[in-house]
Amino acid sequence: MKKIAVLTSGGDAPGMNAAIRAVVRTSHTRGLEVLGIRRGYTGMMDKDVTILGPRDVANTIQRGGTILLTARSHRFRSPEGRAIAAQNLREWGVEGLVVIGGDGSFHGAHYLQTEQNIPVIGLPGTIDNDLYGTDYTIGYDTAVMTALDAIDKLRDTGASHERIFVVEVMGRHAGHIALDVAVAGGAEEVLIPEDPLAIEQVVASVKSGLERGKSSSIVVVAEGVEGGAEAVRKAIVEATGLEARTTILGHIQRGGSPSARDRVLASRLGEAAVNALIDRVSGVMCGLVNNNVTFTALPDTWEKRKDVNRDLYNCAKTLSI
Ligand code: F6P
Repeated sequence: MKKIAVLTSGGDAPGMNAAIRAVVRTSHTRGLEVLGIRRGYTGMMDKDVTILGPRDVANTIQRGGTILLTARSHRFRSPEGRAIAAQNLREWGVEGLVVIGGDGSFHGAHYLQTEQNIPVIGLPGTIDNDLYGTDYTIGYDTAVMTALDAIDKLRDTGASHERIFVVEVMGRHAGHIALDVAVAGGAEEVLIPEDPLAIEQVVASVKSGLERGKSSSIVVVAEGVEGGAEAVRKAIVEATGLEARTTILGHIQRGGSPSARDRVLASRLGEAAVNALIDRVSGVMCGLVNNNVTFTALPDTWEKRKDVNRDLYNCAKTLSI
């Protein structure tokens, strides 16, 4: 094996640059050339590539976003698009590909491998933490810290105005971010898609908290919950007659300098991915389970759903009295 390629795809996540850096530097050490593909699969089809050496990734480990840029490509969802992409990879002499992204990106990688016989390894790069086969995804820890910082600030205002704040956090269809920030931020209630509590139940709980002497409340809502934070806020206002505000944290959760945990995770997985490709491993995601590097078949990463930690969910309920 002489040359591999790396790309980032889907939503950016803090730590993607640390993963690219690890792929590039491990490859260099092991005598491989690395082609950086810009804008994900779009760049693979449009021939938007750049050679990456160890110095090209200097000073990137602390940077959020992705130096390779990212995109969600509709064209790549067709076998025709993937055939063009695979033809380009062959033309460039690429013998293996590292895809850093979430489940959408992994679907693409899986088809590239099964239809076009391109060796691929996936690295879990998404703030959502919704991939089976790794305890944490690259970017998750930083996103939780960012959301928590915002919630701490909202709590100051909530307490000062004796007001209710309903905060919506990202996570697409998963409640991992919501649950972690709810526990860490001492939220009164948390709503996650994995356990769709009736809004009335949450409203009743907030009301009863106020009756027990709470003067303000934070309710965390995962974006995947039907109606989102605004529906919850309206129901609370109707039931209590009190002032409540909605804050949607949105894309602020995707940016920023990666945490130490995300940098370490990305570095370990980037190194492991290159070593795996050299060992002719393919069609898997490289993750970290109980602090050990593991490999999971790509379809399992999205088919076997990673549940939220139910103990933590119960803990959130117990501690919010
Ligand atoms: O997958 C990461 C994520 O930030 C999700 O949490 C969110 O649902 C989605 O991407 C938003 O996508 P976009 O950046 O295309 O609006």
